Amino acid sequence: MPHPKHANADHEVLDLIRERWSPRAYDSSRRVSPADLWRLFEAARWAPSSRNEQPWRFIAVDRADHPDVFEALVSTLTAGNQAWAPMAPVFIIVAAKLTIGPSADPNRHALYDTGQAVAYLTVQAQSQGLAARQMEGFDRVRAAEICQVPADFDLAAIIALGYPGSPELLPNEKHRQSETTPRTRRVAAEFVYSGVWGRT
Ligand SMILES: Cc1cc2nc3c(=O)[nH]c(=O)nc-3n(C[C@H](O)[C@H](O)[C@H](O)COP(=O)(O)O)c2cc1C
Repeated sequence: MPHPKHANADHEVLDLIRERWSPRAYDSSRRVSPADLWRLFEAARWAPSSRNEQPWRFIAVDRADHPDVFEALVSTLTAGNQAWAPMAPVFIIVAAKLTIGPSADPNRHALYDTGQAVAYLTVQAQSQGLAARQMEGFDRVRAAEICQVPADFDLAAIIALGYPGSPELLPNEKHRQSETTPRTRRVAAEFVYSGVWGRT
């Protein structure tokens, strides 16, 4: 039986892409070693970026090493995210540098490139048996204060990271169900055109 969350892909793709998904249930007692975390950031490091600016920055917040910061970050999450994210042993704050080099010139590719680095990170995590769920549902201003992020950086997301855990431990019934509901996507013909916009 294939895992219900694995993509029912119409075309052949890498297994890591087919099998990656974003769980809410994590094994909160299983820590992620520093060596394993470094491998994730190494994958992000080799992502391409406009002008090789590498605008991404990450703050790893291991709940056991930084319990105060971790709890403070939990308090910035939406209620929906608070219902599951504290199960993850690690949060990764994702920030993007909005200006180019030492100048004040805006980098209009900052979030594009940072998302690309996170995509590398999540696929690398998948290859290591780790799972990740990104979150936009948090108070950016408060999270930036807690983690002392400078003003010229935008907080793009918080990633909950860890080894997959038991869905039964999720307090929210909908969240429990969603751990086995098949993932859905638009068909590619809805977002891929040929030659000009709208022509398939
Ligand atoms: C930028 C971004 C923000 C997201 N924010 C949240 C969030 O706040 N809470 C949540 O539960 N999931 C969040 N997600 C997870 C998405 O809902 C999830 O990736 C999407 O439903 C596709 O599921 P899959 O990753 O399992 O394929 C976010 C994902 C991304 C990329």
